[in-house]
Amino acid sequence: MADFDVIVIGSGPGGYVCAIRCAQLGLKTACVEGRETLGGTCLNVGCIPSKALLHATHELHEAEHNFAKMGLKGKSPSVDWDQMKAYKQETVDGNTKGIEFLFKKNKIEWLKGWGSIPEAGKVKVGDEVHTAKHIVVASGSEPASLPGIEIDEKTVVTSTGALSLGKIPKSLVVIGAGVIGLEMGSVYARLGSDVTVVEYLDAITPGMDGEVAKQFQKILTKQGMKFVLGAAVQGVDTSGGKAKVTYKLNKDDSETTIDADTVLVATGRKPVTKGLGLDALGVELEKRGQVKTDAQWQTSVKGIYAIGDAIVGPMLAHKAEDEGMAVAEVIAGKHGHVNYDVIPGVIYTSPEVASVGKTEEALKADGVKYKVGKFPFMGNARAKAVFQAEGFAKLIVDENDRILGAHIIGPGAGDLIHEVCVAMEFGASAEDLAMTCHAHPTFSEAVREAALACGDGAIHA
Ligand code: NAI
Repeated sequence: MADFDVIVIGSGPGGYVCAIRCAQLGLKTACVEGRETLGGTCLNVGCIPSKALLHATHELHEAEHNFAKMGLKGKSPSVDWDQMKAYKQETVDGNTKGIEFLFKKNKIEWLKGWGSIPEAGKVKVGDEVHTAKHIVVASGSEPASLPGIEIDEKTVVTSTGALSLGKIPKSLVVIGAGVIGLEMGSVYARLGSDVTVVEYLDAITPGMDGEVAKQFQKILTKQGMKFVLGAAVQGVDTSGGKAKVTYKLNKDDSETTIDADTVLVATGRKPVTKGLGLDALGVELEKRGQVKTDAQWQTSVKGIYAIGDAIVGPMLAHKAEDEGMAVAEVIAGKHGHVNYDVIPGVIYTSPEVASVGKTEEALKADGVKYKVGKFPFMGNARAKAVFQAEGFAKLIVDENDRILGAHIIGPGAGDLIHEVCVAMEFGASAEDLAMTCHAHPTFSEAVREAALACGDGAIHA
């Protein structure tokens, strides 16, 4: 048993960042983690391993489709799936060990095991009960399945199983055209699987700018992925060895069954709140199961805070990280702040898709007047040189030219979006971006051109 100023439960991006900031602010800090390694879903079975597979398969795609055009001739590389998985694991290990190093450097104690809160001010890990003035719940989220579907992580998998399949499936059905479905669907499509994505709504990536979603679907279709939209999956039958996925079309209720070697269920995630003792403590939950917090991330029980996927908001590692830092500042008696209006979202397919702020659809629904500046990567010399000129950058501004949002589909979109984020944080206008010198030739010029298009016009369009 030991006494701490702060005990953080969970070492994902929310939890470990919170622990580091607490330690930096002079608080005696511990972090509880039951996994063998630190880093939570993101580092172990989420963002990081999926990015390794996306990178490897993107390189394969380049070799198969673009090398010969550049005069790089010869046989395309063959895929050693076990080696690719080993590379993915090395990437994960390097990152999880990195967090362990940061914990040691910042003198954060890793309490190994699964934690619960027997009473305010106490955290139980195994048989030990530790005390803490402040407790931060950063317990994350887990895949949500659908009724009628049994996950075995072999034939019917979540994102976790999809990262470690025994072999590359000949056919893969993805349920849900959200971020996970499209990223992992892309990986297997590039590895040669016949990928069909079944989505309940009439468009992919719900909530995303409509124009981007359309272009995105077009590009993914060109890359070989198939889409069945407006279809509700009814169940998956695995009794005959292969999986049979049955869906009903919303428009006419007609039922279809398709066969697949593997089925990826990517229909969202749900907060992890069980096993922590929150019920007994009287910690209030939201209707949809997230831990309820006030504007300072404090739950209904004094001294217990919650952040990240376990609370309301987009389930994004960087949103959790920001909350982790902010709640640490609050606990240390400082001012902690998260600007929820400027949280970027990125899909790491090829091309990447990134967005921040308002969509046209949301502004229309709110009756807000806006202007759009758009620039196609076709007019960007660098994008053309690397065969990635299919997308566009789009900036949305209000009547005073103040930036309300940006939506980018194209090379490096996930990095480009941040100049718009910074601009939005500073309340910048499109003209501010347009008047900022951008190096040539870079992809970032497309963002500047979109900003120019909000005024007197883009140069290269
Ligand atoms: P999601 O919420 O993004 O998408 C789920 C999709 O499944 C929706 O389009 C929904 O309409 C569809 N769906 C639901 N029930 C269905 C049914 N019965 N039949 C057909 N379609 C159905 O969820 P996803 O992709 O599982 O991701 C979970 C969370 O993880 C998200 O919050 C996401 O933001 C986060 N994440 C973020 C990543 C990133 O930032 N790059 C990467 C991976 C995950």
